[in-house]
Amino acid sequence: MGNSATHFPHLFSPFTIRGVRLRNRIMSTGHETGIVDGTGINDALVAYHRARAAGGAGLIVIEVASVHPSATFVRNSIKLYRDDAIAGYRRLADAAHENGATLFAQLFHPGREILESLDGSAPPSWAPSAVPNERFHVMPAPMPRSLVHDVIAGYGDAALRLRQAGVDGCEILCSMGYLLAQFLNSRVNLRTDEYGGSAENRLRIVREILHDIRAKVGDEMVVGIRISGDEMSPEGLSAEEVLSICAALDDEAGLDYFNVIAGTSTSLGGSVHIVPPMTVGNAYLAPYAAAVEAFPGCFGVPGGLIEST
Ligand SMILES: Cc1cc2nc3c(=O)[nH]c(=O)nc-3n(C[C@H](O)[C@H](O)[C@H](O)COP(=O)(O)O)c2cc1C
Repeated sequence: MGNSATHFPHLFSPFTIRGVRLRNRIMSTGHETGIVDGTGINDALVAYHRARAAGGAGLIVIEVASVHPSATFVRNSIKLYRDDAIAGYRRLADAAHENGATLFAQLFHPGREILESLDGSAPPSWAPSAVPNERFHVMPAPMPRSLVHDVIAGYGDAALRLRQAGVDGCEILCSMGYLLAQFLNSRVNLRTDEYGGSAENRLRIVREILHDIRAKVGDEMVVGIRISGDEMSPEGLSAEEVLSICAALDDEAGLDYFNVIAGTSTSLGGSVHIVPPMTVGNAYLAPYAAAVEAFPGCFGVPGGLIEST
């Protein structure tokens, strides 16, 4: 890496966030590997991420994991709502740390973006309101307030399990049209209770999750949000709406970073940006991250973590 460090001094310089040191700015973003099986985190997934750490990544973010039983969107998702997930994350954290990398892991609820059920039948799906999903043809049931409260606690409990496993940080998915993006979106969230209506009401679930996580994990764990800078879909969150959301979350003391991606799972056009084809140019998402960084009220980290694409 000697030559690389000379040619790319910024990329290879360390970075500290909430006291957690990354050895460089190379980040492996959360991605479902397809390796996880019915047993959850297995030997192959640990080997996969050990290789990334040994290869020199500064930060590895582990793929989406369900924070609540209602968040099971594919058969073999990691079930982080169960205590028996802790041992697997401990193995991943050890594999990363032994090779000099830092480990974060994602906290996830798909809302109405449900791909398949455990037994192949039409999957039950919960969302802020009964607004159908275009891509998977799912009509969700509106979440009762008690379920909203349960899911919020699920995020905090899941983050605590990561903490107990020695994981350095957690990343809440507010991106790509999944549950929290559904709450943030006035075209998808038609609720009339305190979780819908005004912009501040639509933000409430995210704020309550941040508070619940911080209360459970303490001050040392990094807590970030992944958000789409533009969902690039007719009913999706626009770039302007996302900037207002990020600026509004700026006053959250417990929140450490935004990881900016684009697109949404909800439509075919929007979903392209979650899994961009090889023909997409390098750094095509950088302007979206730059816009969040530069927007008045957003706490940008100059030259900090941005999406790798
Ligand atoms: C197969 C696949 C699975 C993905 N799963 C996730 C995921 O679990 N969580 C997430 O935030 N992003 C996910 N993504 C998006 C990636 O994190 C990343 O933003 C995307 O691949 C673009 O970056 P790249 O060009 O470096 O691959 C996934 C992408 C792919 C291709």
